[in-house]
Amino acid sequence: MRTRIENIGQLVAVPKGPVSGEAFTNPPVIDNAALFINDGNIEWFGPAAEAPSDSCERMIDADGGTLVPGLVDCHTHVVHAGSREDEFVKRIAGATYLEILEAGGGIRNSVRALREASIDDLVEQSRPRLLRMLAEGMTTIEAKSGYGLSPEEEVKTLRAIKRLADELPIEMPATFLGAHTIPPEYDDRADDYIDAITDDKLLAMIRDEGLAEFADVFCERGAFNVEQSRRFLIACKQFGMTPKIHSEQITNTGATMLGVELGAVSADHLEHVDDETIAALQGSKTIPVLLPGCSFFLGSAPAPARRLINAGLPVALATDVNPGSCTIESLPLIMSIAATLLRMTPRESLVACTANAAAALNRADRIGAIAVGHEADLLILDIPNVDRWAYHVGVNPVRTVIKRGEIVWEN
Ligand code: NIG
Ligand code: FE
Repeated sequence: MRTRIENIGQLVAVPKGPVSGEAFTNPPVIDNAALFINDGNIEWFGPAAEAPSDSCERMIDADGGTLVPGLVDCHTHVVHAGSREDEFVKRIAGATYLEILEAGGGIRNSVRALREASIDDLVEQSRPRLLRMLAEGMTTIEAKSGYGLSPEEEVKTLRAIKRLADELPIEMPATFLGAHTIPPEYDDRADDYIDAITDDKLLAMIRDEGLAEFADVFCERGAFNVEQSRRFLIACKQFGMTPKIHSEQITNTGATMLGVELGAVSADHLEHVDDETIAALQGSKTIPVLLPGCSFFLGSAPAPARRLINAGLPVALATDVNPGSCTIESLPLIMSIAATLLRMTPRESLVACTANAAAALNRADRIGAIAVGHEADLLILDIPNVDRWAYHVGVNPVRTVIKRGEIVWEN
């Protein structure tokens, strides 16, 4: 089927990721544009005056609105059970995230809740979050395990992710975050836990059932050190998973260097990144993923985004939605936070949430851009220009969400 989207007031032609430098700061913008979709892919786009005149089975009138690629959330813990507002209140009174984690709370509280939930429960609790995210324009959402922390509970989580991916019109790459923290049964025995979670039978099951494309580790004080993280990621890599890493969130551990060494597709967080680490990223293909929602939610220092951008790195943004360090489900809200905390312009944030986020998921060749031949994951926004999106904080202008050429959500 052939579709024509006409009457587009502003089309932001985000180029294929990874994008850095001038194209990152100033992606091409076409006023009064049209776009053709054929068989789920972008066939043509450009000024309406130059559009092909041949007929289409379907017309969509953008009514002068803005057209952008579907948003890609490349780092989430969206599949989880329960909530942790008690910790939120404790932090307001002065406790820190690390103190709560090291005292056996934090992630471990979500582990208890997830273990008590059946797989059906987990799917039921996570679905409404994903539907809200779709309505905000998020057409691809990565999802991590990491609140099971035993072979059975991690597999349960990954199967729940798979069920949701099969059911919803959202692409959901899955990540095995078996090394999220040390579970209570392995107190002071992190090395033994790494042995358990890298058991060949478990990793073979994850591979054979197609349960995870990526592996991730929380390399941090109170979680895993660099050596343990290396062991975990190498074992997962041997079973076909591509490494990712939670790095330099609370302290500088050298995790990003490890990610670069192992060819990680992304290094995520980077609040405490230093110049040496930035230099290592410059010589690598690892995408720096920033999660400013955490800094906002925890009231802590944000990542040095401008230093990373000025170093010519293809910065990506993600929500990190999770019950402990950031409950924000909306990438557009993250763009607003990126404007004030990271000094990123709305256009830079758009590239960071589309092309570069797709690169952080090894998908830059088919999603995240407005490019001929790319999958038609598109949003029609009820705003005259893209800068209005992050500027009008917390108001959702998404009118139509298109995934692979099909309308999957409309307001
Ligand atoms: O990315 N840092 C580790 N993991 C999550 C937080 C998880 C939690 O607190 O439940 C993060 O911030
Ligand atoms: Fe995270």
